[in-house]
Amino acid sequence: MPPPTAQQIIEAQRQDWNRVASGWEKWDRFFEQNLACLNHRLVADARLRTGHHVLDLGSGTGYPALLAAQVVGPQGSVIGLDVAESMLAVASRKAKTLGLANITFHTGDVTALPFGTGSFDAVTSRFCVMFLPHIPKAATEIARVLKPGGWLAAAVWSAPDKNPSLLLPMNVIKQFLDLPQPDQNAPGIFRLAQPGDLAAMLHEAGLTDLMEQEFLAEWSYPSAEDYYRSLMDIAAPIQNLMTQLTPQQQREAEQKIVAAAEAYRRDRALVFPFAVRVVAARKPL
Ligand SMILES: C[S@@+](CC[C@H](N)C(=O)[O-])C[C@H]1O[C@@H](n2cnc3c(N)ncnc32)[C@H](O)[C@@H]1O
Repeated sequence: MPPPTAQQIIEAQRQDWNRVASGWEKWDRFFEQNLACLNHRLVADARLRTGHHVLDLGSGTGYPALLAAQVVGPQGSVIGLDVAESMLAVASRKAKTLGLANITFHTGDVTALPFGTGSFDAVTSRFCVMFLPHIPKAATEIARVLKPGGWLAAAVWSAPDKNPSLLLPMNVIKQFLDLPQPDQNAPGIFRLAQPGDLAAMLHEAGLTDLMEQEFLAEWSYPSAEDYYRSLMDIAAPIQNLMTQLTPQQQREAEQKIVAAAEAYRRDRALVFPFAVRVVAARKPL
């Protein structure tokens, strides 16, 4: 079978994330609590301040766009862009609840940004860039829409062995499936896990002052069952693998995932470490 075209990858992403949008809304408070630290890190690395006009790429249900809107205030503005309209519908509802009038959400593709050159003081992105079919093209687009001197701050997943809550279900599912060796350059959760990969693409696109750091933290779940349920509700790539199993295999895989997750129990909660690659870069003046 020929590899999928860029348009097919983008459409598959749209369908995948639309499918899990209600799961993201259901688990919103949980992920807000567990990942707020990363939103603050991105807002800091993008050097956001009052009055800035900001673009958030692959905003999903509004991270870190909603925090950015609070930081830039009524004199500033934030546009959250995403290919999945159902994810953005959740983000819009949250913006309304928060009383934020300076944020709007638009459907669109990160590799073909529908904005003029030099439109934004800063660009942010959390957990999106590794899903793009052509990351260098997105880097060129980011460099184009930034104002001279403007910063990009992006977060992508780091190495699988440092992210056991994501690796564990994949390893279990692989026991049931004869999966081909993954193409290292294909879009996916760990596509940008290698140190320097994203930074090199941003440098190639003309951005400077590159900073890359591994952001290490922990998230916790009340139980292994909650962990499993949240994964299946929100992690579209893992859900895709699970649907390739028979119903019987799915039940077995669930039991194995829940049992293996118990290894991360600390007293009354499961505590997983996680590792994120945070990359920042600036458009030259
Ligand atoms: C894991 S979610 C992250 C959402 C949010 N930024 C967060 O951290 O919670 C990935 C998001 O990237 C979006 N996405 C994937 N490919 C895209 C593309 N080519 N253009 C725009 N958005 C895209 C998906 O629709 C999805 O909402």
